[in-house]
Amino acid sequence: VAAVPFHGENQAGILPEPQPYSVVLAANAIAGSRAELADLFRTITDRARFLTAGGDPDPVGITAPATDSGTLGSTIPAGGLTVTLGVGASLFDDRYGLQSRKPTRLDVMTPFPDDDLKPEWCHGDLSLVVSAPERDTVLHAVRDIARNTRGGMQFAWRQDGFVPPPRPSGAPRNHFGFKDGTSNPDVRDPGTMKRLVWAASDDQPWTAGGSYQVVRLIRMLVEFWDRISVGEQENLFGRARATGAPLDGTVEGDVPDYSRDGTGKVIPLTSHMRLANPRTDDTDDSRILRRSHSYDAGLDTNGNLDLGLVFVCYQQDIARQFVATQTRLDGEPLSDYISPFGGGYFFALPGVRNQSDYLGRRLF
Ligand code: HEM
Repeated sequence: VAAVPFHGENQAGILPEPQPYSVVLAANAIAGSRAELADLFRTITDRARFLTAGGDPDPVGITAPATDSGTLGSTIPAGGLTVTLGVGASLFDDRYGLQSRKPTRLDVMTPFPDDDLKPEWCHGDLSLVVSAPERDTVLHAVRDIARNTRGGMQFAWRQDGFVPPPRPSGAPRNHFGFKDGTSNPDVRDPGTMKRLVWAASDDQPWTAGGSYQVVRLIRMLVEFWDRISVGEQENLFGRARATGAPLDGTVEGDVPDYSRDGTGKVIPLTSHMRLANPRTDDTDDSRILRRSHSYDAGLDTNGNLDLGLVFVCYQQDIARQFVATQTRLDGEPLSDYISPFGGGYFFALPGVRNQSDYLGRRLF
């Protein structure tokens, strides 16, 4: 698999469709000073730069510990790896003297009415999203970054995600059997990305090229879900299960026309997609770029399947976009079948421009 270029104006893992395997991690900084924190960011950058390009690990002497885990063989393949680093609001408390540098639109996530947040699954000074087409590539990178950053940060929570292949085409299906990811802002249109995804020009100057990242860990109660009819399921989303088409259309790519269905006879007013994006002029700038993965965490303590969504979205302004969207969704009928239990708000740093640049350099 070809290397994803590491250097650029933006981090490379933000715009592309989610890769087949991801690990989403939150970490807390334990660096002893601002200089050590900058060292941590330099180290993460160096490791990500090496791992995404691939190559031979540094040689070692006879008795020193191996420099690489060896899980990908002696030469590291580039493997389509991306590493996306974000910072949480807590990094800007008084520990590192960065209070005045906090991205303008970064706050700590607060609970929504249908949330059941578990403290051990929430927030963090840092977020790390590591993705690749193969699972061992992802785990190798996570392990490499962990061993090279000991003393600088400590992982707090982790959820592994995957994206299944399209069945049979179009967006991949989530655990509820519905195509998920069909309607998203067009990432090929730089004007749209500038307006909806990248930090605004009136934000902190160092944030240019970065994006606000929302992570939500959402359990999907598949046992309940499997007891209702397909028709009921389709009304909850507003789309057909088999094709992914909006209920007023025939194919997945059809755009719903709510103006012809003002009372919600065809696409219920309370359907997830209609509430999430009502397609009105005044809600247009609340659109978000969704980059979610499914998770499979085995069984819960009652023996039920622990399946869900690692919901990730990127935006220019969390309040204007994610919070506005989630607020429209509060109390939606779908909320009986899902349960958000974790996540956090982060700012995904600007890209690394060249060999001498590093993630967050302009922050320090
Ligand atoms: C659309 C599932 C959570 C925002 C959709 C669609 C599905 C879906 C099947 C329709 C297909 C598509 O356009 O992708 C789910 C599930 C969730 C979940 C199973 C939880 C487990 C969320 C959350 C948000 C959100 C937390 C944001 C607060 C959206 C948006 C759309 C969408 C903006 C596109 C609507 C449009 O443009 O027509 N979701 N979703 N979803 N969802 Fe979700």
